[in-house]
Amino acid sequence: MLYIQMSTCKVRFYSSRGGKGLQVALVKEKVCPGHRENICQAAEILRAGGLVAFPTETVYGLGAAADNPLAVGRIFSAKGRPRNHPLIVHLASVICLDRWAREIPPVAWNLAEYFWPGPLTLILKRGREVSDLITGGQDTIGLRIPGHPVALSLLEVFGGALAAPSANRFGHLSPTAARDVAAELGDEVDYIIDGGECPVGIESTILDLSAPRPRILRPGIINAADLAEVLGELPKGPTTVSPRVPGDLPLHYAPRSPLFLAEPSRLEPMVKALLDAGQAVTVLSRHRPELDLAGVNWRPTPCDPHDYARRLYSRLREVDSPVNHSILVESPPTSDEWEAVRDRLFRAASGNLLQEVTG
Ligand code: TXA
Ligand code: MG
Repeated sequence: MLYIQMSTCKVRFYSSRGGKGLQVALVKEKVCPGHRENICQAAEILRAGGLVAFPTETVYGLGAAADNPLAVGRIFSAKGRPRNHPLIVHLASVICLDRWAREIPPVAWNLAEYFWPGPLTLILKRGREVSDLITGGQDTIGLRIPGHPVALSLLEVFGGALAAPSANRFGHLSPTAARDVAAELGDEVDYIIDGGECPVGIESTILDLSAPRPRILRPGIINAADLAEVLGELPKGPTTVSPRVPGDLPLHYAPRSPLFLAEPSRLEPMVKALLDAGQAVTVLSRHRPELDLAGVNWRPTPCDPHDYARRLYSRLREVDSPVNHSILVESPPTSDEWEAVRDRLFRAASGNLLQEVTG
């Protein structure tokens, strides 16, 4: 891609889809509010093979035209993501489901009607024309209709499907604001639509419907009990075997500072051990911990699981610091409505064992 920086505007040249020449798009600003005019501009960039970051109700997505292999390939390079990790395809309407999936079970239509647009991704057998690049070579595909007005307008104006992982570098925290995308992928992405803070704050629930019994691959704000109302049975829980979900890697959704999880009674000894090890410490807990807070940055966290999820990644980004700093998080409750938050914190803490600090 050629790139020329001018005084107030940037001119970018995108290879056209058919390779018949070059298309030109004029991009005045890279981060733009989700007005109609900007959405039209973003759709034009997508048609020309560009990458557009856009808000969804969960987290910001890094979108490319799902039927353009060159554009989809750019997603993997921009994120530093292994090519065998499949992408979710975002649709404007259930009418498009047949094109992207085959052998769709009746329950998938019921779930779609009940939860879409919304934070649920369905894993279905892939449609015959879907490329291996999208599915990581598997016979299944992840599909969802996002529940955010800007994402829906973009899909509608673009007129096709968008492959879109979270708009962060592979393994890092998902972005929940346009500024997070700009800070992390500003050089790689062609356009960022600013739709404000994402109202859900963590990634969609992923439900696998490609096997005889439904299985949750990634917990989210739509939990097992919510799904059971439509499924008529509780879905099975996550497993670490195929199909691949990068969230199943030991360290994922992780800040740069080491993150430790601790029960309330363990907070004090953990803080002491970290301070003794020369670390600055941020404590994230629902209630003010009973300890001498000198040298400790205490940040209260919400007591409601939905509020907690909405603030989780932005709070971690806010306090993150790569040098001599640790984040200590009070373990969330074990009830069902906290499962998705627990899952993300557990992954962020994965590998950071208590013994490493205390022992
Ligand atoms: O909320 C979300 O789902 C956000 C927004 C942008 O839509 N997207 C998102 O995408 O979190 P990503 O790529 O960061 O995570 C998608 C997850 C990955 O763990 C991927 O492996 C899994 O979905 N996935 C996609 N297709 C799959 C498939 N066919 N089988 C199993 N897992 C799949
Ligand atoms: Mg992701």
